[in-house]
Amino acid sequence: MKKIQLSQTGVEVSCLCLGTLRFGTRNNYEQSAQLMDMYVEAGGNFIDTANSYDRWCTQGKGGESQVTIGRWLRERNNRDDLFIATKVGFGYGDVPEGLAASTIIAECENSLRQLGTDRIDLFYAHHDDSNTPLEETLSAFDRLVKDGKVRFIGASNYLAWRLADADALCAEKGWVNFTCVEQRFTYLRPSPGADFGVQRLIDENLISYCDARGKTMLPYTPLLRGAYVRSDRPIPSPYLGPDTDVRLEVLQEVAREQGATVNQIILAWMMHRQPPLLPVFSAGNPEHMQENLGALNITLSTAQMTKLNQAGHCLNDEAV
Ligand SMILES: NC(=O)c1ccc[n+]([C@@H]2O[C@H](COP(=O)([O-])OP(=O)(O)OC[C@H]3O[C@@H](n4cnc5c(N)ncnc54)[C@H](OP(=O)(O)O)[C@@H]3O)[C@@H](O)[C@H]2O)c1
Repeated sequence: MKKIQLSQTGVEVSCLCLGTLRFGTRNNYEQSAQLMDMYVEAGGNFIDTANSYDRWCTQGKGGESQVTIGRWLRERNNRDDLFIATKVGFGYGDVPEGLAASTIIAECENSLRQLGTDRIDLFYAHHDDSNTPLEETLSAFDRLVKDGKVRFIGASNYLAWRLADADALCAEKGWVNFTCVEQRFTYLRPSPGADFGVQRLIDENLISYCDARGKTMLPYTPLLRGAYVRSDRPIPSPYLGPDTDVRLEVLQEVAREQGATVNQIILAWMMHRQPPLLPVFSAGNPEHMQENLGALNITLSTAQMTKLNQAGHCLNDEAV
């Protein structure tokens, strides 16, 4: 699997990151281990989790994904081959609301213990918290890096102006800043005014900010959880807008030209951007994993990239 530099860290990571939201809950240990093995066999080294995965699952409390990864790392004895990202989520179970320093420090220790490792490669704030001063939050992250418990820090679900404020503060204080940004993003564009709760999207403001600052953007839920192709899972309503049909048609057209699947084209389209987006994808079974990893073999032509990028542009602009 191709490796790309993560932001300006000098560290190379796989161009596809494996998300593990449902590992240890919907996917039991054996199933999860098989999916991670497949990803690693394809050359992948970048695994994404969070302290809170998967508290949204009916049988989950949060922590199941980290514990599952920890057991797999131990059994495979492959910790040093992998780049492990986790996140400090908050406001569930006994984790208090907000990004207070004490929560960040305690949840880092919890993640280290559950993952069975002595350092986290990339530690994200799972989403923004405007009630805690950035100074408190960022000083805690900086402390973890200085203590060697965390290598890099990242932001997830942040608006561009908050990242700019965070970067300015870190520059002033001499602290490490948010290296990269993980946000919701797919090929379909959200309809104007769509509400995703605390989730933030990769939008025009974020793109221009991150490109200017050399920060890698990592799109999560790139495949809309299979909704592009599954009759049991309709396209979520926030993505039903004036250009939805046009974009779906173009996706299918390019998939036919490539002899590929729509899911593969979406991942390939993200990886072909310059600078590349780094999709955080997942799969619930080996067939889907195989299909999604097939995106690595696709070379999109300049004409296909232009067609994909421009599909429905005028329609959406008129709607705005
Ligand atoms: N930072 C954040 O706030 C945030 C939020 C959400 C997710 N994430 C991260 O991003 C990762 C990916 O998110 P996601 O799971 O929502 O992304 P996704 O890749 O869009 O969806 C993955 C799910 O889609 C289905 N699927 C995958 N490949 C398929 C295929 N080829 N054909 C049909 N269905 C397919 C499977 O559902 P079934 O398992 O049901 O079959 C799979 O679990 C997560 O694991 C997590 O690490 C981060």
